[in-house]
Amino acid sequence: MPMIRETIVSTMDDAGRVHLAPIGIIADDGGWIIAPFHPSTTLNNLRAVPFAAANFTDDVRIFAGCLTGRSQWPTAPCTEIRVPCLADALTHVELAVTRITEDELRPRFHCRALRSIAHAPFKGFNRAQAAVIEAAILVSRLGMLPRDKVEGEMACLQIAVRKTASAAEEEAWSWLRQAVAAFYEKSSPESSGGI
Ligand SMILES: Cc1cc2nc3c(=O)[nH]c(=O)nc-3n(C[C@H](O)[C@H](O)[C@H](O)COP(=O)(O)O)c2cc1C
Repeated sequence: MPMIRETIVSTMDDAGRVHLAPIGIIADDGGWIIAPFHPSTTLNNLRAVPFAAANFTDDVRIFAGCLTGRSQWPTAPCTEIRVPCLADALTHVELAVTRITEDELRPRFHCRALRSIAHAPFKGFNRAQAAVIEAAILVSRLGMLPRDKVEGEMACLQIAVRKTASAAEEEAWSWLRQAVAAFYEKSSPESSGGI
């Protein structure tokens, strides 16, 4: 099985507009693969400007925010590429696309790491952060997953949030809960209010 790191990937379009998206980058023989589903802005941007920054952050509000209409997070210049990195990344890696494995559903952009820069120390594991990441993945797949699975998993994940969250994780969790509630409210008004 491939090793995947959950990151915020920054990309840029032809006009210089920056896009941030939570993406699991796949370890690949010293480099990384970015595999965005079709259609997506990340995919279009990587075709237009074949560079990206993979941002390692413990601010899970950015993961939850990007999926819930809060995608404006501060960025800072990279050193080797014109795509910026996240200003608050603990570490960022500057990536250049070297080749593309085409696929109708999910092309794979093979990237070489040009530079990796550490900005701040890793502060240790936190269960609420892991729970928010898992919940963010559920939120990104609401249209594909059965409602009882989503609500069951959210209920389990909430235990770790209740026990271990700081204000940042609580805020991220509240955005995700609202997104789940709004999705089911919209899709079946008579049966809302599950979580
Ligand atoms: C932890 C995490 C990992 C994700 N990994 C991927 C991925 O590898 N590929 C992908 O297409 N979407 C992934 N997603 C979903 C995207 O973040 C989401 O669909 C996003 O909107 C991408 O589309 P965009 O580039 O148009 O913003 C992931 C979401 C989360 C929370």
